[in-house]
Amino acid sequence: MRRLIPDPATVDDLRAAYAVPAGRHLRVNFAASVDGAVTVDGTSKGLSSTADRELFHLLRSMADVILVGAGTVRAENYGGAREFDGHAPPIAVVTRSLNLDPSARLFTDTRVRPIVVTCAAPPDRLAVFERLADVVVAGDEDVDIARALDLLADRGLAHVLCEGGPHLFGSLAAADALDELCLSLAPVIAGGTAGRIVAGLQSPVPDEMHLEHVLEDAGHLFLRYSTGSGRAGPVHSP
Ligand SMILES: NC(=O)c1ccc[n+]([C@@H]2O[C@H](COP(=O)([O-])OP(=O)(O)OC[C@H]3O[C@@H](n4cnc5c(N)ncnc54)[C@H](OP(=O)(O)O)[C@@H]3O)[C@@H](O)[C@H]2O)c1
Repeated sequence: MRRLIPDPATVDDLRAAYAVPAGRHLRVNFAASVDGAVTVDGTSKGLSSTADRELFHLLRSMADVILVGAGTVRAENYGGAREFDGHAPPIAVVTRSLNLDPSARLFTDTRVRPIVVTCAAPPDRLAVFERLADVVVAGDEDVDIARALDLLADRGLAHVLCEGGPHLFGSLAAADALDELCLSLAPVIAGGTAGRIVAGLQSPVPDEMHLEHVLEDAGHLFLRYSTGSGRAGPVHSP
C-alpha cells in the first residue's frame, strides 16, 4: 500500500494511518466501482481486493462495534463477530421490520452475542430476538439513529464502524451522525442498475468533507474523509 496524498510514501503502519481520536467516533466503510456502483451482481464482493480485505479487517479490529443494515445482512448472509487481533467486536444490525432469520449466520456463527437495534415492535416479535441477541430499542416508527448511538455508547461501544449498506448510510447522514468515511474505489466499471453508497437521503447534507489521505494498491484507491463534525475532533495518528 502506498500513500499518494498528502505526501507520497510507502505505508508501513496502516493502523496508524487509520487511527481515530479517543471517545465517540462513527466511521463508515464502503467500496464502490469507478462508475459509482456499490454492488456487482448484488453484493460488494466484486469490488474487493487483497488490500481492501486487509483494510476491512483492520478497521474491524479497531472498532468497538460493527453497525450494519438489515438489507446487507440479508443480501450478503452476514456472519457474526470474528476475532481480529484478539478482539471480537459485536455486530449490531439495524432493522425496523425485524425481518431477520433467527437461523442466519449472524446469530448462529458468532464469537460474540450480536445486537439487534430496532424500534417499537410487538413484544412477542422482540422476544424471538431477545433469545438470540441483545436488543436495543431506539425510536418508534424508525430507529432514532442519535438515540441508538447513545445507547451503544452507554454500553461502552463508542467507536462504531458502519459497513453499510446504502439505506443505513442514508439514515446516518440524515441524522448528521457521520465522523468519517472510508471509501475504497475499485478499478471496475460495473454498469448495471446498482445503487450508490447512499440511498434514501432526500437532500444533501451540508457538511463539507475533508480529504485526510489517498492510498493506492493494485489500482484500488483508498480514500479517507472526515466530516469536521467537531464531535470527535480532527482525525490524527498517534
Ligand atoms: N459496496 C459496499 O461496500 C457495500 C456495503 C454494504 C452493503 N452493500 C450492498 O448494499 C445492498 C444492501 O443495501 P440496502 O441499502 O438495501 O440495505 P441496508 O442499508 O444494509 O439495510 C437497509 C435496512 O436497514 C434498516 N434500516 C436502515 N435505516 C433504518 C432506520 N433509520 N430505522 C429502522 N431501520 C433502518 C431497515 O431494515 P428492515 O428492512 O429490516 O426494516 C432497512 O430496510 C446489498 O446488495 C449489499 O451487498 C455494499
